Formats: sequence, C-alpha cells, structure tokens
Amino acid sequence: MYLTKEEEQTLNGEAGETLRQAIEILVALGDIYGADRLIPIKSAQIAGVSYKTIGDAGLEWISDLEGRVKVPAILNPAGMDLEDWKRLRISPEFAEKQKAIVRAYEKLGIRCECTCTPYTLEGFSVGYGDHLAWSESSAVSYANSVIGARTNREGGPSALSAALLGKTANYGFHLDENRVPAVSIKVECPLEGSDYGALGYAAGKVVGSRVPLFYLRDTPGKDELKALGAAMAASGAVALYHVDGVTPEAKKVTFEVPEETIVIERSQIDEVYESRGGAGKEPELITIGCPHCSAAELRRVAELLEGKAVSKETWIFTSREIAKRYPEYVGTIEKSGAKVVCDTCMVVSPATNSYSCVMVNSGKAFAYVPGMCGAEAVYGSMETCIEEATCTEKAAGKKEKKAGGSH
Ligand code: F3S
Repeated sequence: MYLTKEEEQTLNGEAGETLRQAIEILVALGDIYGADRLIPIKSAQIAGVSYKTIGDAGLEWISDLEGRVKVPAILNPAGMDLEDWKRLRISPEFAEKQKAIVRAYEKLGIRCECTCTPYTLEGFSVGYGDHLAWSESSAVSYANSVIGARTNREGGPSALSAALLGKTANYGFHLDENRVPAVSIKVECPLEGSDYGALGYAAGKVVGSRVPLFYLRDTPGKDELKALGAAMAASGAVALYHVDGVTPEAKKVTFEVPEETIVIERSQIDEVYESRGGAGKEPELITIGCPHCSAAELRRVAELLEGKAVSKETWIFTSREIAKRYPEYVGTIEKSGAKVVCDTCMVVSPATNSYSCVMVNSGKAFAYVPGMCGAEAVYGSMETCIEEATCTEKAAGKKEKKAGGSH
C-alpha cells in the first residue's frame, strides 16, 4: 500500500503514539483488503459507545488516546439517555461508566451526538460520492444506498482511527467495482410502511453480504428505504443495495442485470409479522425508533398517540437533535405516558433486558432484540405498535385477572 512521506512518518510514530496506532490499524486493514492508498474522508460515525457492548476494556482503550479528530465525527447510540438516564432505570454504576466513555470521546473532539441517523443532523451533510468512515450498519447502508456516498462498515476502532487521521483505506465500497449489484430481487406485491422492514428482514437472510438490486412495484420513501436497509444489514450483512429507478446510483449508473434473480412473495413478508416470538407471549414493552425516528416518524407517532394514554411501557427512540427540533411532537407523545428517549436504543441499552417480550416495528430490532436483550420480539407496523401500547381492554383484562388471583 502506497503511503505519502507524511503517512510514513506517522506510521513511524513521529506524530505521536495515538496517530501511530490509528494509521497502523488502517494500514493493516488496507493490506488485508488490497487497498492501494489512504483517501480523505468527509466524516466519521463511531460505534462502540454503549458500556453494555464495550465494557471496561473499551473504556480503557479510548481513555488512553490523545489528540483531536480531523473531520466531523459523531457517536453511535450509547447505553442510556445521557441527560435523563434515570427514567429507564439505568443503574448509577452503569451511568458513571457510560458518562466516562462519552467524556473520553469528547476529549478527542468528537461531537457528543449519539445516533445511528447521522445524515439527519445539521452540519453533518453527506452527498453523492462522498467518502466516509461510518460504523453503524443501518447508517452505512443508508449512506451507501440512499445517498450514494461511499463507506465500508467500519468497526469502532477503525472508524475512530479514520476520524483521527481524516482518512481511510481505499478498498471495498469506496471502489466502483464493488458497488455493482450481484443479485436481483423482484417484489411484485404492493408494499407500505413497515412492510419494507419485513422485506429487508426476509431479503437479508437470502442475500447475505452481496449487493442486491431491487425491482419494486411501489416507490419507497426515505424512511422506508432506511427500514429496508437496516433490516437487511441485521438479518444479512448487506451494506449497499440499489432500487431500480429510485436510489441515486441505480439512476446514474447503467448496471448489467445480475445473473441471479430472487423473487420475494407477499407470504414471506407476512411470515415476519406472524412469526411471533415467545409462543404467543404478550408484549410487555413497545419500542419504536430503530433506526432512530426521523422528524416525519416522530410526527406520525405523535398523531397516533394524540389524546390517548398508553397502558404499557412505550419507548420512542430518536436523536437528541430531532427531539429538540420538534418539542411539540415530544410533548404530545409524552402526554400519553410514552417516553421519548434520546442517545440510545432498545438494543444497546441494558434497560430492555428487564422485559421478556418486546414489540418492535423494525426488522433490525426484530433480528437483534432476542440475542442482544434476551427478550422475545414481536413485529408489527407503527400503527399496530401504538394500538398495542394503548389497548385498554388488554390492560383492564390483566388487572381483573390480577385482582381475581389475589382473592
Ligand atoms: Fe440504531 Fe440501535 Fe437500531 S443503533 S439501527 S436504533 S439497533
């Protein structure tokens, strides 16, 4: 791999130990994947933030680093709402560790925005063809597919190294030849809303890590594409997909039609809704916002909850910036008893581990909640999730049962 004179010097430790370690990580990855050189990046999004996932070893590694990032960089969701961690009953011990992790990142000049939707943030704009070093799989998928930017799915340490150097190794999805679709997916049934998350869940299982080119009957919106990509990255390892006539690269580049075609039927999408975990267990917790809710999704949740009261614990996850921008939606949601929670999510927060059955409207959460939180997951549309959250008959039925049982 070719290195400039300055990069050679950095690798020799002349720019300090932190940058030496950082470039060593990037050069090692570049050598493994056949990169020719390092290329400048526009921004970084760094995973490995929740104390639940990185523990003391991660905290120690980040705390030892010195210097400042060279490009705008933000963090993936942490293990708790950083301003109001008590509301999800996080322990003080966990909160202390989590705060220490965020402080260690902040010391390096990283913006303390903990979100998997960096593309919605002010001052973090991303455009077609931009090279990035992002970590979180749904953000990577969105950047590559919906925006047409270029990023590999970085690990926490490599994204942090790229942020400190302002560069990444030129391999994988930074190169044209790796962005070509390898398999076509045809879906002929109509789709809307959470159907895209269910489609992504089903498609990811058959596509694995290949680049699919979708032929869809309907034109999905941005939030639907976000849900599709997030689910495919979780049930499979898809970091880039195209939708014929919709996503920017599919519109600009003339791809050869892939040899293999997979047809996904409505019944496969319905199966995701029907495959209730926990053998018919009742959801105890309702969660929305994986990936973090956009402004439009937050507005929709507010509309659905307006004038109602939740009878089950209900958490709506979004970025702090979106929550601050739309206090009226937050107000309406919280009036119902549901909680708008920032900086974290149902998967990376330990709070979810106290529940045995969780309802989600996200294919990604549906894939991850069982393994990461030890809870069964039930899939439903946003509307069904809110119905479940506000269903008074079920709550009344439960109370009656309890009252009956105590006599
Ligand atoms: Fe984001 Fe957490 Fe889902 S990081 S994509 S909300 S699992």
